[in-house]
Amino acid sequence: MVERTSSTGAGSFDREFVAEFDELLRWRRDVRRFRTDPLEPGVLDEILASAELSPSVGNSQPWRWVEVRSPGPRALVKATFERCNSAALAGYDGARARDYATLKLSGLDDAPVHLAVFCRPDPDQGAGLGRRTMPQTLEYSVVMAVSAFWLAARARGVGVGWVSILEPGDVVAALDVPDDWALVAYLCVGYPESLDETPELERLGWQKRTDPHARYETR
Ligand SMILES: Cc1cc2nc3c(=O)[nH]c(=O)nc-3n(C[C@H](O)[C@H](O)[C@H](O)COP(=O)(O)O)c2cc1C
Repeated sequence: MVERTSSTGAGSFDREFVAEFDELLRWRRDVRRFRTDPLEPGVLDEILASAELSPSVGNSQPWRWVEVRSPGPRALVKATFERCNSAALAGYDGARARDYATLKLSGLDDAPVHLAVFCRPDPDQGAGLGRRTMPQTLEYSVVMAVSAFWLAARARGVGVGWVSILEPGDVVAALDVPDDWALVAYLCVGYPESLDETPELERLGWQKRTDPHARYETR
């Protein structure tokens, strides 16, 4: 019989591991301030390999990772961010507008790695299982992979910042990927300048974490 007391074997996890895992969840942050030094060799591959273990509807594995290295496409992504960020600012009034203007909402300038994550709608993968009535589960599957990527990165001391203040079509065009690929996430990845247990938007008074009990019901 396999001994099930270690967090390193047989798919079981001891209390110490569980406590550390919860600590990882507590300290995962959206990072917008990065050091510019490159990632340690091999660490991005390790993180991607972990993210590849994610669940997906019908086992369709619809995620596609595009590392954006060239200055041209990076500049186009930065330009769509700037346009969308200005438009977002224009949508707020008064104190909210003043606060929004002070937020730093991307690490596009400093993060050594940029990763665009797409959903590829391949009807053959998974043969449609699980998505006849909920086709959106294909994109949900990509979000699962992004979430795993985020945690796997943080466990290795690597920070991730999700940038959604972008026009997805502009990113598809900038990266010259097929038109039917849907942008799910644009990730800035690198070593964070600092660590904090509290989300930055909470620290800056934009939005607090609210009571979890208010989000839980039974029927
Ligand atoms: C789908 C998604 C899109 C996001 N887009 C942005 C963004 O464009 N810019 C930004 O600064 N943060 C973005 N964030 C980060 C959130 O602001 C952040 O997760 C939230 O404030 C909680 O902070 P924490 O991740 O540090 O816990 C995004 C997060 C998610 C999940």
